[in-house]
Amino acid sequence: MEIKAVCIIGAGVMGSGIAQLVSTHGYNVNLVDLNEEILNRAKSGIAKNLEKFFVAKNKISKEEAENVLNRISLNANKEQAIVGVQMVIEAVYEDMALKQRLFFELDAICDKDVILASNTSSLSITSIASKSKFRERIVGIHFFNPAPVMKLIELVRGKKTSDEILEKSKNFSESLNKTVVVVNDAPGFVTTRLIYVLCNEAVKMKREGIASTEDIDVACKLAFNFPMGPLELSDLVGNDIYLHIGEYLAKKLGDKYKPSPLLKEMVDNNSLGRKTKKGFYVY
Ligand code: NAI
Repeated sequence: MEIKAVCIIGAGVMGSGIAQLVSTHGYNVNLVDLNEEILNRAKSGIAKNLEKFFVAKNKISKEEAENVLNRISLNANKEQAIVGVQMVIEAVYEDMALKQRLFFELDAICDKDVILASNTSSLSITSIASKSKFRERIVGIHFFNPAPVMKLIELVRGKKTSDEILEKSKNFSESLNKTVVVVNDAPGFVTTRLIYVLCNEAVKMKREGIASTEDIDVACKLAFNFPMGPLELSDLVGNDIYLHIGEYLAKKLGDKYKPSPLLKEMVDNNSLGRKTKKGFYVY
């Protein structure tokens, strides 16, 4: 079955970005969230983004941007939003119980050949699928932030994901002009596990007084040609997100992944990074 329309559930940072990306490549998008206020905010965010980063930079015309927006429909009712789609991409909070419940519901209401994908950045696809009946159609399609710009998609094969669904998901991802890597289901996959270890190690060094925040970041940028230092990155992604990922990896893979106590202290002080205007830096 050819993919023509995609339902995206969760219209936050990632869901909005994925909606913009998918629509830019000609697919119809039904974007779902808890209420209309969130959905309207998401759509005006997409409009601003298209204007600032694509139209103003002559990457697409004004008319193309309008077409991208027109292909995105908003719906707070997922039962309605899944009608006529060939794929669902979930981008709700990083919460196992929430995702399990959502996939259980989707599995029951979607035609059996609809692909069900999760954009989780660390949670096991096998566990997310564990409450569902047709587990072979559940797959991880891990986009990166900002989704319209980042070149990679990490495709995650759950224990039960079928070869056919993996292949179709790969073709779909490539149709978005992304490079795809295929990863077997494991906590944090490849990308999140690696970047978490780097960032957590940087937080530990900061706590041990080995170098200042700025010097840790400059060292990484200039020594390894990284576009951003690990502490800057932790602020951008959210220190709460890294804490959550670290706790999950430690539970699944062992104590060496335990988050630095400094990360916990920062989260307790609401120093979450850019979103609270303070973290390793002040914004
Ligand atoms: P976010 O907090 O910006 O957005 C989550 C959205 O889901 C919110 O708008 C919320 O209202 C909505 N939502 C929650 N429960 C819902 C439900 N039952 N039905 C419909 N909508 C619901 O979160 P963000 O950052 O977009 O993350 C979403 C997912 O993407 C997470 O699994 C995260 O791990 C993953 N991810 C995040 C990245 C990032 O840099 N922020 C990068 C790659 C993956």
